[in-house]
Amino acid sequence: MAEGEAPASRRVDWVTLRSRAREMTGLAYAPYSDYQVGAAALVDDGRIVTGCNVENAAYGVALCAECGLVSALHAGGGGRLVAFACVDKRGLTLMPCGRCRQLLWENGGPELLVDTPTGVLPMTEVLPQAFGAEQLATTTPSTTDPTKD
Ligand code: THU
Repeated sequence: MAEGEAPASRRVDWVTLRSRAREMTGLAYAPYSDYQVGAAALVDDGRIVTGCNVENAAYGVALCAECGLVSALHAGGGGRLVAFACVDKRGLTLMPCGRCRQLLWENGGPELLVDTPTGVLPMTEVLPQAFGAEQLATTTPSTTDPTKD
């Protein structure tokens, strides 16, 4: 690898990611909202994982496209997400919902690159001051005492 060149896992083919995400909208099960979402992400080993939203008659149980994508990541052997794109059926880029930003943080961390309507952003800008595993590791009873400053 030449000096200054990004490692293979960081050379992101955004056109392919957006296209794979859009393909997934065709598999979405969204009879209640009629809002089909597709997501695709590059994993640090070079593979691409995808997902689509899957709704339910009990509306609150709907699975976002990101949920399927994260399940596919783990079912396919795990790894870290390095680049993520999410689109609607017209192919327009979507911001992940709040819950799914947390899912992305867990599986990609601060350096995960996210396609947004205003350009590619790192997760630190998509979910600032995120809660993560480090908090669990560093939390002690004295820091969680609500009666103390
Ligand atoms: N949806 C996603 O799949 N991902 C998001 O980040 C936002 C929302 C889905 C959930 C639901 O099936 C539909 O979009 C309408 O909210």
